[in-house]
Order: sequence, then C-alpha cells, then structure tokens
Amino acid sequence: MSAVRNKYRKITTKVLVEMKAKGEKIAMLTAYDYTMAKIVDRAGIDIILVGDSASNVMAGHNTTLPITLDQMIYHASSVIRAIERCLVVVDLPFGSYQGNSRSALDSAIRIMKESRGHSVKMEGGEEIAESVSRVLSAGIPVMGHLGLTPQSIYKFGSYTVRAKGDEEANKLKSDALLLEKLGCFAVVLEKVPALLAKEVADSLTIPVIGIGAGDGVDGQVLVTHDMLGMTHEFSPRFLRRYLDLYREMGDAFKRYITDVKARDFPNKTEQY
Ligand code: KIV
Repeated sequence: MSAVRNKYRKITTKVLVEMKAKGEKIAMLTAYDYTMAKIVDRAGIDIILVGDSASNVMAGHNTTLPITLDQMIYHASSVIRAIERCLVVVDLPFGSYQGNSRSALDSAIRIMKESRGHSVKMEGGEEIAESVSRVLSAGIPVMGHLGLTPQSIYKFGSYTVRAKGDEEANKLKSDALLLEKLGCFAVVLEKVPALLAKEVADSLTIPVIGIGAGDGVDGQVLVTHDMLGMTHEFSPRFLRRYLDLYREMGDAFKRYITDVKARDFPNKTEQY
C-alpha cells in the first residue's frame, strides 16, 4: 500500500479541512464507473468526483446539460461499489437544484439514498444560496463550484477563463466566502486566474480545489479520461496528460483486429 494511502485510512470532509490546515495538498479525479473508480481509489486519490462531465465523456454530449438525475445516480452507485478509502462527491445535474430549494433537497436526498454517495457538488454562488442551505440542513455535505460553471455555458457563451475583470472577480470572492459561511466543506474553482484563486484559497478555511486555477489553491482536480489522454479533441493549458491512451488503446485494438483476421487469435493455448 502506498504512503499516500497509509496516512489517512478513510477520507472524510473533516479530514479534508484538516489537510488544508496542515498545508497538505488534496488530489481529486473524476470517475463514472466501477472499474475506473477502483483503480483511482486504490492508487490513493483523496476525492473521486462523479462529475456531470459524464455527459460529455461517457455519453458524447457537447455540454453537461443533458445528463439526468437518474443517470448520475447510476454512475455514482457504480463508483461507490468500488471504493474503499476516498470521499465520493456527486454532481447535482443541471435542472435538479437551481431555483427551487425543495427540489434541490429532493435531488440531493435521492443521490445520497440511491447511490450511497458521500456528498454533492452544486454550481453557483449567491443565486443558489437557498438551495445550498436547504441541502446542508439535511446533513448532506456540499462542495461548491465557482468560476467556469459548465452548467451555465449558454450564459457564458464560451469555455474561456472566468473572472478576469474586477466585477466578476469580486463576485467570485464574495460567493466563495458565502459558500463557506453557509457550511460547504470545499469549493471547486474552475478556470480562473491563479492569483485570484490563491487569494480565495487564502481567505477560506475550507479547501479550494482548482482546475485551471493555478498552484496557489489547496488541491487539484482533473477529468480522468483527459489526464489519461483518452480524449484528444481539446488541449487546455491546464491539462497535463500522464498517458496517451487514445493512441495506445487504438494500437491495441488494431493489433487485436489484425490477429483475428489473420486467424492468429485464439491460438491453441487460448481455447478449451
Ligand atoms: O463534472 C466535472 O468533471 C467537474 C470538474 C471539471 C470539476 O465538475
């Protein structure tokens, strides 16, 4: 077992806040299925995010908007069956919490009961404060998400860096403080300037997990399929690819096809 896994037997929201206080960085990745979640958990990850990016990565949609609550529950319950140590955060999908705190609570309760996830993530600040409070009041841990919030992509119009101007940066800072005050256990900051992200992280006692938010935050998150190089359609600056699985898997599939066509597979030892 790795040193990373040894240090904390089980990651809870409390452990994450302790990690920030001790200056220990938090590592988070996405997973949407049992097999991937098992590999990621056993490697020693602190948090698995069952992201609504499943809408893009697993289902091939252009945005995260189409994924449903039932589909998120399916993905999350597959992940939960695999994990031993990490904390599992499940995205509340678009349309399941905005504008109506009662439906936010119903959606979060369904996620917790039906998938057995450990917490939920919600995109937005002041405009969803009532929904965040209501979910928290049921004892469900909430991770906030500010900056580039992909569920609002049609409002933004593009996936470019957010909060470059003073007005948006000031709103982001006050939204982050509000989410902490409401009781969120962590906040994701997506695609914002590194200096702003550091300022936000320094102003909060809860961890700030960045994606494209620089090195001054308390932890990092990437979409697993992107960092493994399984996806290849885009290359944002913040994405470090640890493998080139698109090529390696393609090569393996080509070799298999060649072997089958050449009657090389199966050979005499690969049959009964
Ligand atoms: O859905 C997702 O994968 C996310 C991360 C990009 C933070 O929200």
